[in-house]
Amino acid sequence: MYNKIERNDLCWCGSGVKYKKCHAAFDEKIAAYKSKGCIVPPKNIIKTPAQIIGIRESGKINIAVLDFISEQLHIGMTTEEIDRLIYEKTLALGGIPAPLNYEGYPKSVCTSIDDQVCHGIPSSDIVLRAGDIVNIDVSTLYNGYFSDSSRMFCIGEVTPEKKKLVEVAKECIELGLAQVKPWGFLGDIGQAINDHAISHGYAIVEEIGGHGIGLAFHEEPWVSYVSEKGTDMLLVPGMVFTIEPMVNMGTNEVFVDEEDDWTVYTADGMPSAQWEVMVLVTEEGYEVLAY
Ligand code: MF3
Ligand code: CO
Repeated sequence: MYNKIERNDLCWCGSGVKYKKCHAAFDEKIAAYKSKGCIVPPKNIIKTPAQIIGIRESGKINIAVLDFISEQLHIGMTTEEIDRLIYEKTLALGGIPAPLNYEGYPKSVCTSIDDQVCHGIPSSDIVLRAGDIVNIDVSTLYNGYFSDSSRMFCIGEVTPEKKKLVEVAKECIELGLAQVKPWGFLGDIGQAINDHAISHGYAIVEEIGGHGIGLAFHEEPWVSYVSEKGTDMLLVPGMVFTIEPMVNMGTNEVFVDEEDDWTVYTADGMPSAQWEVMVLVTEEGYEVLAY
């Protein structure tokens, strides 16, 4: 049930202040953008200060788990071992690995090597080898709040071409982040990322995007990296979402493994790199909640 908030009611954000003295002007500003034809965020994805505190805590655990695993990675390790370490570390920190049993996903983390674009399933048959580039995608549920971020790792000596791909994928994140500001647009981020990838001769996967997050693992908005500046959803303070472009050395065409129904591969077998950041839109710009 939706009850229209009155100006003298307490604000929806939990400040304890009357709505008219708190978020009334903010809501009116969003409504004005909407009446101009802009796509505006639905109310339920704008986080309250209390929710932001919870999501920030979850993000800290996600970061700690990634920091931890980064020190354990070595040639000869199986991705199954990575999975076990992440499961145990997350629980030790009071969290739950969000991927585990998520829509039938069988493991606690995604580990995607070389031509695996994302959603690689850890396995005792998959061994880290010198020359591999691997994405470790960690997501945490802590005290009811979700977080999600991923990093790339180069195992042993990696070819200069793959190293460059990993670096440019990271630069894409930094350039995307620089576009995050209140009353900007999601498309500002997408265009900055796509332009950078293309300038290096790479291609960004179009079918898979980032996502809102916080109260659920995947929320609105869907975050594209082939969107155009000034288009797509308006960014307002309190929105939390991931930026996680998949940058391919060759074609941006991908397919999903028919057997496991999860692992995404590049169509041409060329490598792909991905970093993922979870970001909060603030009054001033942005805050990184997990990276
Ligand atoms: N971190 C991944 C993402 O949101 C998680 C995918 S769902 C999983 O892009 F079940 F595969 F973990
Ligand atoms: Co994600």
